[in-house]
Amino acid sequence: MKYKNIKTLLNRGILTLTINRPEKFNALNSEILKELREAFIELLGNSEVKGVILTGEGKNFASGADISEFVGISFKEGARISENGHKTFDLIERSPKPVIAAVNGYALGGGCELAMACHIRIASHKAKFGQPEIDLGIIPGFGGTFRLPGLVGHGKAMELLLTGEMIDAHAAERLGLVNHVVKENDLIAHSEKMLEKIISKAPLAVASIIRCLNIGDNYTIKQREINIFKRLCSTGDFREGVSAFIEKRKPDFKGE
Ligand code: COA
Repeated sequence: MKYKNIKTLLNRGILTLTINRPEKFNALNSEILKELREAFIELLGNSEVKGVILTGEGKNFASGADISEFVGISFKEGARISENGHKTFDLIERSPKPVIAAVNGYALGGGCELAMACHIRIASHKAKFGQPEIDLGIIPGFGGTFRLPGLVGHGKAMELLLTGEMIDAHAAERLGLVNHVVKENDLIAHSEKMLEKIISKAPLAVASIIRCLNIGDNYTIKQREINIFKRLCSTGDFREGVSAFIEKRKPDFKGE
């Protein structure tokens, strides 16, 4: 299948999916999220695909949900954005075929959440991670409130979510957010090597381990995130945060 925003390459059982919107730092608009869903549904039915590498075109992995789609949205549209993100990321997390995120640059907001929905994360030494939603007056809406503490622990997750600060690849490795940090030019080769090792194992056991370890299958914590995300989408602070990003200025939050 041909996608508009995702490049696909199948080689020796490994499907490499590359998000291809480099001019916007691979910001995840609704079309990309939909295409990722379609790609994962397609790969599940393709017996030639044994595992997946997910990466970003150019210098970045993904800089988050597309903030330009947040302008003037309602409560209802906020819910739809969060639910669609969850649908896509759940498909990735639940894929019985192993998925490695090869993080080549910024993985912010929804980009960091996308990497966290993958089963393993390999980062280039140039990668940067963070959940800057707080600077938009919202919370992560694609699983960050439960996948981040699942990987780095409650205390560090609280700090990263409340400050919105970015961390580099080595700090992310120390926290357990990424599995390995490698040189930029070795990123894909290293990810392929790890994936080759995993796909040489018993496929049913691989799928079962993934299933046992999945964090996002808790309906209650997911629904809580969606509910709070959509409520915050109707606040003045959210409108201010989005306007400030688009106007390239600092937000002036009022707590309302
Ligand atoms: N949504 C929409 N557009 C985005 C984006 C996003 N999440 N992230 C980057 N872009 C766009 C910028 O608007 C800019 O487009 P333009 O050239 O048409 O103005 C382009 O990508 C490059 O970004 P820019 O901000 O100019 O580059 P930078 O090097 O100064 O900063 C980032 C890079 C990633 C730090 C910065 O773009 C950023 O903070 N992005 C938002 C991250 C975020 O809050 N993500 C969570 C969203 S819920």
